[in-house]
Amino acid sequence: MKPDASTEKADCLTWSAKVEVWDIAVRLFHWSLVLLVATTAITGFLAAEWWLDYHVWAGYGIALLLMFRLAWGFVGSYYARFASFRFPFRVLLKHMREVVSGKGGQYLGHNPAGALMVFALIFVLLALVLSGLIGLGGQENQGMLAAFADYQSGVLALEIHDILSILLLGMIVAHLAGVVLESVLSKENLVRAMVTGRKKAEPGRLPHSFGKKRVVWRAPVVVALIGLIVGPAYWQLTNMPASGFVAMKNNPTWASECGDCHYAYHPSLLPRSSWDTVMSGLSDHFGEDASLDKDTQSEISAFLSKYSSEHWDSEAANELQKVDLKKPLEITASPYWKQRHEEIEPLVFKRKSIGSKGNCIACHTDAKSGHFADEKISIPE
Ligand code: HEC
Ligand code: HEC
Repeated sequence: MKPDASTEKADCLTWSAKVEVWDIAVRLFHWSLVLLVATTAITGFLAAEWWLDYHVWAGYGIALLLMFRLAWGFVGSYYARFASFRFPFRVLLKHMREVVSGKGGQYLGHNPAGALMVFALIFVLLALVLSGLIGLGGQENQGMLAAFADYQSGVLALEIHDILSILLLGMIVAHLAGVVLESVLSKENLVRAMVTGRKKAEPGRLPHSFGKKRVVWRAPVVVALIGLIVGPAYWQLTNMPASGFVAMKNNPTWASECGDCHYAYHPSLLPRSSWDTVMSGLSDHFGEDASLDKDTQSEISAFLSKYSSEHWDSEAANELQKVDLKKPLEITASPYWKQRHEEIEPLVFKRKSIGSKGNCIACHTDAKSGHFADEKISIPE
């Protein structure tokens, strides 16, 4: 039978013809996200805390990718658009029944279950980014929310962050299982499709509006717009003073007198009552005579009270003010200090480069500022 004009046109697109379903922006987004999520997972679950920097940078990267993907869901090519994979619930149920009975490959773009997973992944990732930012700002006094989040909300946010990260791992496993299952059912390697962007297409299966417009040029525009908004916001927010820290004027008398035998312990590391006790017992100070003349002593006392841990909302100040009641003068005797340092071998503290537990500054390069940030820890040889 001689084909008429319309079937002839359709014939150009034979059964096995492949068409580009995932545009280059979707593919780059997808694989960059894989890389960054893997980085956050490794640095979050496995690496020591002083890798926090890498975790945070990968997290910011994920945030940018998500912003791009959300925008691309409205202005991207046909199958990148959320509208093309927003299925009613009954279609999802129908699809599930098809999968159970061993049928697949009914959808050129995302299948309904896959689409649901994409929305869920985006939602959970956004929640992870947000809880991470609040945690970073509140607990560590760093990042874009350092000026806004207090310590307690930071602690709470990080608990949520932990739960969400486990949830995400579970979802990733489900996503991979779905990809394998759907690949088998549709006899098409969906991982390769996310690399090449191309999938098998039957004639007549292509939606009406598919491929009409080449819109990839919009991707760099979207990226530029995001950069224009996020760049200044990041700069502005990270340059605001962290809410947990007060502007402390250095006191040279304190710095020289109390920095004579050991690192001059930052005033935020003990509560006022402890400092008062330290200062009233200097003639027998841990077996040493550290007495001072009256004026010097009252000057240092006033300075330490003014900036004692009650005045700060940093992690160190919040946690170290819970002193050991039997040894209220010793930072290193507090339950928090002991717990955070319990994995360090006692011999490490005896190293020449360290000397004692109390020599905070040997391992915490930012000890002078009282920050004690995770990524400023480095144990010398
Ligand atoms: C003459 C030397 C000397 C001077 C001066 C001195 N200290 Fe000390 N300080 C010690 C010794 C020794 C210890 C015992 C712990 C150690 O070996 O590091 C100690 C311990 C401490 C501790 C407990 C640290 C811990 O392990 O948790 C605090 C707090 C402290 N000093 C505060 C001060 C203050 C405040 C001043 C200034 C008024 C001061 N010290 C001046 C010798 C000194
Ligand atoms: C031998 C090196 C060493 C010395 C000395 C040391 N620390 Fe640490 N500190 C560490 C390490 C390593 C960690 C991270 C432990 C972990 O992964 O939980 C840490 C964690 C901390 C934390 C928690 C930081 C955070 O944001 O999670 C605080 C606060 C802290 N140290 C305070 C102190 C103070 C105060 C001193 C001195 C009295 C001190 N440290 C002495 C190695 C040291």
